[in-house]
Amino acid sequence: MGIGTRRRIKVQAATLMMSFGVLLSGCIRNPLHENEITQTETGFDHLISVGFSQLGSESVWRSANTVSIQDTLTRDNGYFLIYNNARQKQENQIKAIRSFISQRVDVIVFSPLTEEGWDTVLQEAFDAGIPVITSDRQVHVAKEELVTAWVGGDMELEGEKAALWMQEHLGEKTPLDIVVLTGTEGSSAAEGRSKGFHKVADAFPAWNILEEKSGDFTMAKGKEIMEEFLSSYEGIDVLVSQNDDMTFGAIEAMEERGIVPGQDITIISFDAVKKALEMVRDGKINVDVECSPLLGPDISRLITAILQKEHFEKDNPVEELVFTKDNVEAYLDSRTY
Ligand code: AHR
Repeated sequence: MGIGTRRRIKVQAATLMMSFGVLLSGCIRNPLHENEITQTETGFDHLISVGFSQLGSESVWRSANTVSIQDTLTRDNGYFLIYNNARQKQENQIKAIRSFISQRVDVIVFSPLTEEGWDTVLQEAFDAGIPVITSDRQVHVAKEELVTAWVGGDMELEGEKAALWMQEHLGEKTPLDIVVLTGTEGSSAAEGRSKGFHKVADAFPAWNILEEKSGDFTMAKGKEIMEEFLSSYEGIDVLVSQNDDMTFGAIEAMEERGIVPGQDITIISFDAVKKALEMVRDGKINVDVECSPLLGPDISRLITAILQKEHFEKDNPVEELVFTKDNVEAYLDSRTY
């Protein structure tokens, strides 16, 4: 065997040993609790490990929400974030939460796709002593203690605000034919907005809700359902669309038929992402009820309060505005999503 061949074998063996060493150390160390920094913004001397299950990436709002959380729960800020995208499947969220439990994270954060079906997995997190924060949407569980805290938009109030705008600007006595594009069935966002809207609208007999159908919070589905509405009903006066993405789809459907959005049909939307606010400015959307996706900083505050055993509120609704042509200009430049 020549010197060159022997050297090659030595180098290969060393590389193999190093990889094996890395593998071994990966097995015996819990990387989630590495003491690699002495003091973090959170006040802890180690990284706080957070498992975050995002429900999907169905909308502009959702992407902004993911970025807000990822940009806040960084190593520089003292976090070790494990992110999982459930791609609109509850079973994927349940799997992700179970994997966070087995990795012994310090906190679990998740944005629940739907309200029901979480008792078992959240009981498992509770039994493992891991606090759970629901972000954005909420869950229905039999035992309240299974959720440590919630932060997000007050969806019921958002629905109410939409109907109150209609009352003020269109009039409760004006006969109105209304169609509603609802969001993902069984989600607290869709349920809450519908509940709040009906709370006001049901008191006005002149308002006629022709149909309510789910567009699953996506642009494609919003367009499809709006096309169905336009084929089924003549003279629709108002579209209530429970998020901006469905509104974008619905506007496309209207324009393809020569209907002028915001004039022929009054449009009420939710979220208030930048593209929608531009449409409010241009008169295509008449009113946009804000739902803020920028929840990262609030989640971070909650995590530190929970782990440091300081006082925190269980329910943390965030402040949200209502945008119309009258006030939108002032907010356009600063809107980042
Ligand atoms: O839960 C918040 C809602 O979900 C937002 O309105 C929507 O855009 C998102 O998909």
